[in-house]
Amino acid sequence: MVTDLVQLGAGAAGPPAELIFGDWYPALRARELRVGKMTKAMLLGVPLVLGRKKDGKIFAMRDLCPHRGIPLSAGWFDGETVQCKYHGWRFEPCSGQCVEIPSLTQFETLDPTKIYAGAYPCEERDGYAWVYLPEPGTGRVGDALPAVPELPKFSQRFRSAHLVADLPCNVDHGIIGLMDPAHGPFVHQAWWWRSRASIHEKEKHFEPIPQGFRMSAHAPSGNSAPYKLLGVYGEPITTTIDFVLPNRRYETIRCGDKWFSSLTTVTPVTPSTCRIDVIAAWNIFYAVPFVTSIATFFGARFVRQDQQTMIEQAEGLRFHPGLMLIDDADKPAKWYFGLKQARLKGSGEHPLSGPVTLHWRS
Ligand code: FES
Ligand SMILES: [Fe+2]
Repeated sequence: MVTDLVQLGAGAAGPPAELIFGDWYPALRARELRVGKMTKAMLLGVPLVLGRKKDGKIFAMRDLCPHRGIPLSAGWFDGETVQCKYHGWRFEPCSGQCVEIPSLTQFETLDPTKIYAGAYPCEERDGYAWVYLPEPGTGRVGDALPAVPELPKFSQRFRSAHLVADLPCNVDHGIIGLMDPAHGPFVHQAWWWRSRASIHEKEKHFEPIPQGFRMSAHAPSGNSAPYKLLGVYGEPITTTIDFVLPNRRYETIRCGDKWFSSLTTVTPVTPSTCRIDVIAAWNIFYAVPFVTSIATFFGARFVRQDQQTMIEQAEGLRFHPGLMLIDDADKPAKWYFGLKQARLKGSGEHPLSGPVTLHWRS
């Protein structure tokens, strides 16, 4: 199931954020990549051209010819090599290696295979084309890359769905909006979910994990209808939510051998805009028809509510207002900024020295 939410125009972008390079980001759904076709994408302000070779392997090149900078996507791809439209240089797209310069004659000694176009590690996982974007200026990427992110699954058989929405704000606002517990009763009001009147005090336990933090396993909030629905299986329900740099939120709900798992990423498209992707899988109600469409419908509504809020927020952010982070509901946002700064500085510090309990009403 695919649901594309409203596409946004570029004009309304707010202030930029600093970006984390040297990690994997989802560029697009891999099914869009067909043999012989080139598809453009933008990640962290880097123009990309992606495609699928005849052998099924997908690739992501920097969409700029190393000769004179014309986008390679303006040229041709025959399923084996990408050819530039301007002077016909040909490149093997997974390595970026130039394999032919048509203008060369026997009198020249230039070896085309010494020339490389930008090409990034690119892997298919959970239906996404994940692209590893190295630090700018670090040249070609070695082999020691972090693992490609993956949605955890707990059985062989499951259903899955994904959602995507463009957000007109920078990645920091996208991420802190994602981990913000206090907006739920206001942004996500609905009879089937919860109402403002259901706000009550909560106590949540957090602990540090590498590059992030975990909201420890707990019985999910009793005031949300979908969780009540899960109770039909009669076993205790536990939820774990992990946030991991640069942009990943993993949520796992387990109840006996039933499970629901989601991976939400907020990916910088440019320094001032981002995109939210949600991939979810579950074996709950496996046998019930239409559950995927129903889940996608409600999930889409949820993401649409966040998107609409951030569109409105972007209107305000254009005026560069001062912003506040308050305790405890904004603590996770503070940890995110702490983790990000530590990562950018390479300091290895962690904003949490041990388990922490937070309280808020939502
Ligand atoms: S600009 Fe690409 S081959 Fe000349
Ligand atoms: Fe939300």
